[in-house]
Amino acid sequence: MTPTKVKIVEVGPRDGLQNEKEFVATETKIELVNRLSQAGLQNVESASFVSPKWVPQMADGAAVMAGIARRPGTIYSVLTPNMRGFEDALEAKADEVVIFGAASEAFSQKNINCSIAESIARFEPVAKAAKEAGVRLRGSISCSLGCPYQGEVPVASVVDVVERMKALGCDEIDIADTIGVGTAKRTREVLAAVSKVFPRERLSGHFHDTYGQAVANIYAALQEGIEIYHASVAGLGGCPYAKGATGNVATEDVVYLMNGLGIETGIDLDQLIEIGDFISRAIGKPSSSRAGRALLAKKRDGAAPCV
Ligand code: HMG
Ligand code: MG
Repeated sequence: MTPTKVKIVEVGPRDGLQNEKEFVATETKIELVNRLSQAGLQNVESASFVSPKWVPQMADGAAVMAGIARRPGTIYSVLTPNMRGFEDALEAKADEVVIFGAASEAFSQKNINCSIAESIARFEPVAKAAKEAGVRLRGSISCSLGCPYQGEVPVASVVDVVERMKALGCDEIDIADTIGVGTAKRTREVLAAVSKVFPRERLSGHFHDTYGQAVANIYAALQEGIEIYHASVAGLGGCPYAKGATGNVATEDVVYLMNGLGIETGIDLDQLIEIGDFISRAIGKPSSSRAGRALLAKKRDGAAPCV
C-alpha cells in the first residue's frame, strides 16, 4: 500500500510565517514562494485571506499573490474562512482555496470564533462559489490528533468533520495535528478510520512537530497509503491559536525521508536547503530542520556538523 510517489504541499509561506511576530517583508514572502516553486514544490500555500486583526502577518496576502511568478502547473493555495476571504482569493487568482475547521469545539471557537456546526454553515457558500468558479477546494481539520484545550479528540469527531467536508465537495482533506501530540499508532488509527469515508489518495497529513513525532507519523501514514504531506521549509512556524505549538515538520526532513525510501517527490533537496537557509536568515532564526542543518554544514564545510 506504500506509495511510490508523493505530493508535498509547502505550507511555510502561510502556516510558517503566520506566526512570526516581526512583520516579514512582502518581497521576502514573494521570493520564498518563487524559490519553492522553482525547487519543484507543486503546491505552495502562499497566503491567508483572514482578518488582519486576527493574523496581522498575513495582511499582505493580495500583494504576495500579485507579486509571485507563477510556475505553470504549480497550485498556489490560500486560506479562506468565509465569503469575504473567498472573494479576495478569487481576485488574487488563487488556484485553490482552503476552508479550515476543527475536530474540537474549543479549538474551533479560539481559531475562527464559531462552533464546528457554524463553521460548516459558513463554509457552504464558499464551497459553492469555489465550485462555480472552478477553483480547487481543500478542507483542513485542526486537532485531528489532539487539542490544546480539550485534550483527547475522539476518532469519531474527526470522521464526522471529514464527512461534512466531503459533503461540501472538498477535493482534498487535511488531517492536521495542530499541536504535534500524535503518535504513529494514533496516526494510523485516525487515517484508517477516515479512509473509510473519503478516498485515501485525496487525504493529506499535516503534522506539526512539537513532540518530534512528525517524521514517524509520516512514516506511519505512508503505511496507510497516504500520498499527500504538508511541510514547512526550515520547519517554520507554530499556530497563533495553539499555545506552545511549533512549526510543521520541515520540508527538508520529509524530502530526505522520501529520498531514503525511494519515494519520488520531484523536489530538489539541494535547492531546498538553500531556501531553508535564506528564510532562516531573513527572519533571524536558526532552521528547525535537522536534515537541512546537517546538509548545509556538509555543503559549506565539506564535513558533517559537530554534535
Ligand atoms: P469574527 O470576529 O468572528 O468575524 O472572526 P466577523 O465577521 O465579525 O469580522 C471581524 C472583523 O474581521 C471585521 O472587521 C471584518 O470585516 C473582518 P471590523 O469590522 O472589525 O473592522 N474580516 C475580514 N477581514 C479580512 N479578510 C477576511 C475577513 N473576515 C472578516 N476574510 C474570522 C471570524 C474567521 C474572520 C476570524 O476568526 C479569523 O480571521 N480567523 C483567522 C484565524 C487564522 O487564520 N488562524 C490560523 C490559520 S488556521 C491554522 O493555522 C491551522 C492549520 O494550519 C491546520 C492545523 O495545523 O491545525 C490550517
Ligand atoms: Mg498548521
